[in-house]
Amino acid sequence: MSGIVVFGAQWGDEGKGRFVDYLASKADVVVRYQGGNNAGHTVVADGVTYKLHLIPSGILSKGKACVIANGVVIDPSALKKEIDYLAERGVSVDNLYISDRAHMIMPYHRELDALNEKKLGDFKIGTTGNGIGPCYKDKVGRTGLRMCDLLDEESFPEKLKKCIEDKNEIITKVYGGDPLDYEAILEEFRAHAKYFRPFVCDTVSMLQEYKEAGKTMLFEGAQGMLLDIDFGTYPYVTSSHPNTGGVCAGAGVGPQVITDVIGVVKAYTTRVGEGPFVTELFDATGDAIREKGHEYGTTTGRPRRCGWLDLVIVDFAAKTSGITGFAVSRMDTLGGLDKVYVCTGYDIDGKIVNTYPASLETLAKAKPVYKEFEGWSSDLSSIRKYEDLPDAAKTYIEFIEQQTGVPVVMIGVGAGREECIYRGL
Ligand code: IMP
Repeated sequence: MSGIVVFGAQWGDEGKGRFVDYLASKADVVVRYQGGNNAGHTVVADGVTYKLHLIPSGILSKGKACVIANGVVIDPSALKKEIDYLAERGVSVDNLYISDRAHMIMPYHRELDALNEKKLGDFKIGTTGNGIGPCYKDKVGRTGLRMCDLLDEESFPEKLKKCIEDKNEIITKVYGGDPLDYEAILEEFRAHAKYFRPFVCDTVSMLQEYKEAGKTMLFEGAQGMLLDIDFGTYPYVTSSHPNTGGVCAGAGVGPQVITDVIGVVKAYTTRVGEGPFVTELFDATGDAIREKGHEYGTTTGRPRRCGWLDLVIVDFAAKTSGITGFAVSRMDTLGGLDKVYVCTGYDIDGKIVNTYPASLETLAKAKPVYKEFEGWSSDLSSIRKYEDLPDAAKTYIEFIEQQTGVPVVMIGVGAGREECIYRGL
């Protein structure tokens, strides 16, 4: 039995989907363990581009079981849309399983997300607007609604009514918004119950059976380490645990199940939304990376902030998540520049710091300390062996390994499924 975790070691959008897609071919079951439809995973398979949000990328590998586990928050209307999107492209969801313990994103969560961002004004988080934070808030506050509630025709209306009454008070009295209509929402969710009933099951027991049968499980993270509610740039984070720690609680497995932890790292850094970003580029190089890498959000279409690779955060991710191997994406996108830079530490009040500070005020003072590297050609897409990479690209990869003590096991050289160098695992 093996359990492989793949998650983002930066601020999300590292290009996890394609590595998951590759690793899924070795796995028996692919599991999403946190986040919701705030995620956007682009996978190019057999020349077709798929944009996924909630459904594990493993759905594109025929015959794999795909689980949306208890740690995920599910917006039923968004999930239904995604299932329809896949069906239109001939992708079957017969192997999709949804946890009965997963919490639902309700219409009032989306409403509260928007109202709260508006109220925060200049201090807004820059959320995806999908109701993620308000839903996790209800989960922790013990007032959420789960998939098992949805399926209980008798008790659901009463539970929903209570939630809507409570939320309408907040929407109208705190934010001055318009109240939501209980009857309309009940009708919508009755239809969801009918639609989702065949998909919902006890995924904890299911994964236990996979474990006992010695099968390979792949745990697919969404967002990224620096958006983690505990270890990210709080409060400019998401409301879940994208890191390895999120796997046990979010899927209902023990830590012994995890045998490999793959941290996906973009060869440079991007971020969407607000919050600190020490190596951000505000010049023509940043713009050029954005255009060349099509760095616009899969979920919201927002332009991504771009900057040099920051090894302080990558090393922090490696340490707090027990990363056993890095998958470095977008080496082709970073190619074509004369010089490239890697941040090895922060200068904070004249002191060089290599650990990631908790305080936003400290981070605001951090100036990146860079090491300069020769650039390489962007035309790498036909390379499949590490030895065939240009020397400058190999130097770059080996520097990441030396600085973090973690081997780089996969390297992305193009967008296609096969445009990748595999060095083990
Ligand atoms: P939320 O998860 O929608 O509440 O957004 C909180 C923060 O996480 C915002 O800065 C979002 O831009 C960011 N975020 C959420 N999901 C993703 C993702 O999949 N990729 C990159 N950033 C994300």
